[in-house]
Amino acid sequence: MRAVVFDRYGPPDVLRLEDVERPVPKEDEVLVKVHATTVNRLDCATREANRRSGLALSFMSRLVFGLRQPRQRVLGTEFAGEVEAVGAAVREFAVGDKVFGSSGLSFGAHAEFICMRESARIAHMPAGMTFEEAAPICDGALNALTCLKQADLRKGRRILIYGASGSIGTAGVQLARYFEADVTAVCSTKNLETVRSLGADRVIDYTQEDFTKNGQTYDVIFDAVGKHSFRRCRGSLRPGGIYLPTDGFGNLILALVTPRLGGKKVLFQIPPRQTKQDVLFLKELIEAGKYRPVIDRRYPLEDVVEATRYVETEQKTGNVVLTI
Ligand SMILES: NC(=O)c1ccc[n+]([C@@H]2O[C@H](COP(=O)([O-])OP(=O)(O)OC[C@H]3O[C@@H](n4cnc5c(N)ncnc54)[C@H](OP(=O)(O)O)[C@@H]3O)[C@@H](O)[C@H]2O)c1
Repeated sequence: MRAVVFDRYGPPDVLRLEDVERPVPKEDEVLVKVHATTVNRLDCATREANRRSGLALSFMSRLVFGLRQPRQRVLGTEFAGEVEAVGAAVREFAVGDKVFGSSGLSFGAHAEFICMRESARIAHMPAGMTFEEAAPICDGALNALTCLKQADLRKGRRILIYGASGSIGTAGVQLARYFEADVTAVCSTKNLETVRSLGADRVIDYTQEDFTKNGQTYDVIFDAVGKHSFRRCRGSLRPGGIYLPTDGFGNLILALVTPRLGGKKVLFQIPPRQTKQDVLFLKELIEAGKYRPVIDRRYPLEDVVEATRYVETEQKTGNVVLTI
C-alpha cells in the first residue's frame, strides 16, 4: 500500500510517499481502507521531535517515539474510511461499514490502510457525512474535551477560549456551548465570523483588544492554542478560577503545584485520557447538529509536504484534510 513515511526527525520534506506492507488485522482488529485523513499539530510536533517546545520536551518526545530515529514511520492520527476486513473476534463492525476515528499516539493514518482494535477510538461515521468531513472530527474535539471535562462547565459558568479559530479552539467553542457555559472567544479579525458562527456568545479580536485589560473575569480560561500563559491571564480569572493550557512544559509544573495551593489553578491532564466513549459522544453531537469540525484546506495525499508546511504556519482555521 502507499503510505507517507519518514526515517529521521526534521522539516516537512523528510516526508515521502513509499510502498509499504499492508497491515494485517489481528483477532480483535478492524482493517480500514482510509479515504481521508488530516495533518495536525501532533503530526508536525512528532515529526520534528517537538524541537520547538524546548530541550526537555524534545528529549521526552524522543524517549517516547524513538531516541535517534522515529520507531513509527507513518504519521497521521485521524481517519475516515471503509472497513476492508475484520478479525475473527470483531462484533461491532463488518466489511463495508463506513468508520472514522483516532489512532492517537499510535499514528499510522497517512496510509491507504490502518488497523484499529475494535475497542479503540473508532466508530461508525455519522449519517450524511462524507469521508473528508468525518476525518477531522476527532483531533481538535478530543483534545478540547479532555481539557474542558476538568472544568465543570455548566449553565452560569463563564469561559474564555483563547485561540478559538484553531482545531482545538473551534471544537472547544462548540463543546463549551453544548455544556451551556457562557462563551467568550478570542481570535484575529479574519476568523471573527467563523468563530461567531460556532456559537460563541461574544468574540474578541485580539488585534483590537487585550482581554486581560478590559476588566472582565471568567471561571475558566482555555488557552486552546498555547499562546497565552497563567501568569498573564491570572487577573482575568475569578477567585478559584481555572486555567486550561494545551501545551508547554512550564504548564506541567504549574499543574502539579497550583492545585495544592488553593485559589486560582492550572489543570492539565497528562497523559490525556481519550476513549472510545468520547468518540461515540462526538458522533452523537454531530448527529444532533451540535458539533461540526471546521475544515480549512484539503490536499491530495501526494501533497502532504505542502499541507504540512501550511499547518506549520500555525494559521490554519480548524483542520487540514488529506484525501486518499
Ligand atoms: N492538535 C493536536 O493534536 C494537539 C495535541 C496536543 C497539543 N496541541 C497543542 O495545542 C495547540 C493548538 O493546537 P491546534 O491544532 O488547535 O492549533 P492550530 O489549529 O494550528 O491553531 C491555528 C490557529 O491559531 C491561531 N493563532 C495563531 N497565533 C495566535 C496567537 N498569537 N494568538 C491567538 N491565536 C493564534 C490562528 O488564528 P488567528 O489568526 O485567529 O490568530 C489559527 O487559526 C498547539 O499549541 C499544539 O501544540 C495540539
